[in-house]
Amino acid sequence: MATFKVGFIGTGKKPVHAGPQGYGMAHQHAVAYKALPDCEIVACADIVEENAKAFAEAFGVPRLYTHHKAMLEKEELDIVSVCTWPHLHAPLVIDAAVAGVRAIHCEKPMADTWGACRLMAQECERRGVRLTFNHQRRFGAPFRKAKALLDTGAIGELVRIEFGAGNLYDYGSHNFDLANYFNNEITASWAICQIDYRDENLVFGAHNENQAFALWQYRNGVFGVASTGMGAGLIGAHHRLVGTEGMIDIGAVNAPVLRVRRFGERDWEVIDCGNEGLHGPGYIERAIADVVKALREGGESELCARHALNATEIIFACWESVRRRARVELPLMIQDNPLNDLVARGELTPKPRG
Ligand SMILES: NC(=O)c1ccc[n+]([C@@H]2O[C@H](COP(=O)([O-])OP(=O)(O)OC[C@H]3O[C@@H](n4cnc5c(N)ncnc54)[C@H](O)[C@@H]3O)[C@@H](O)[C@H]2O)c1
Repeated sequence: MATFKVGFIGTGKKPVHAGPQGYGMAHQHAVAYKALPDCEIVACADIVEENAKAFAEAFGVPRLYTHHKAMLEKEELDIVSVCTWPHLHAPLVIDAAVAGVRAIHCEKPMADTWGACRLMAQECERRGVRLTFNHQRRFGAPFRKAKALLDTGAIGELVRIEFGAGNLYDYGSHNFDLANYFNNEITASWAICQIDYRDENLVFGAHNENQAFALWQYRNGVFGVASTGMGAGLIGAHHRLVGTEGMIDIGAVNAPVLRVRRFGERDWEVIDCGNEGLHGPGYIERAIADVVKALREGGESELCARHALNATEIIFACWESVRRRARVELPLMIQDNPLNDLVARGELTPKPRG
């Protein structure tokens, strides 16, 4: 008999052609719950009935709903996975928390405004609901092994974390989360950034800049540098960790997925990561196993809202720096999404997509 009853909000389409306008992430979460003997998926809700039906059929889910509130009212759920687009994350998470579920695992990015991110974390915290976000790459061998190298002093003291990415928000949410993971979850103290946003780039309904160059500093003195869009090649890697005595590259262009250059060495040493790359396989399974383990045994999942807030704060601080034309000191004392605001006020005028 399963211990935890699991429900889904947002089942997605069956992912035939996965892409940034619809991955059907719920299907990947479901595979992960199915692998855990103490979890049973008992219900799902999607406003598109066809999507809910396909999901229920694929995973043998007994009950489906077209409104999440009906599901939350009728089912006594322990865990809810929220797999909709970002602007719906906060209201749906808050509805699930108010309904009394014990844990909510939500897709990234947290929410579409900084105020909504803080509110969803607050409303879960004060009801004793565990809130986690699917920054699953933390569980991948290249990232785990890089952290182990760092922790055993392979590159001396960490000085700087760099990343190249498509954008700061949609995919960047993973990059910032990982940067914080490498720096032991220490919060940032300030951020400064410039962006270019000339062509509308809506990913899962949310504006994302075309190019950004960002610098931030953590409270332990470590610097962060990000270059996105056509400037991502400056870094040329998913992450680069620069230490006093060497460097670690994760996902460098035209290179093995993990390599380290130790003090005084001219050549890179390749670290074997088996068949694991930047995106998997198995990372979502491990992420959800960690979420369920924390619920089962107590303690905090690595994917907790506290960590997600630390990463998301830097994203919105970068865009706030663009709005203020200045360095932004943290904690970030805004509520909105500065990029949305700049577009709404006509200060940024991205050309609409044809
Ligand atoms: N962790 C990762 O690596 C990763 C990868 C891709 C996407 N994502 C994130 O996953 C999230 C979902 O993306 P997706 O590709 O699965 O989306 P999708 O479009 O495949 O699925 C979203 C589903 O939500 C449903 N929906 C919309 N409003 C709803 C509501 N009010 N109640 C219930 N259902 C509703 C839609 O009908 C749709 O079926 C996004 O936030 C995205 O950024 C994460």
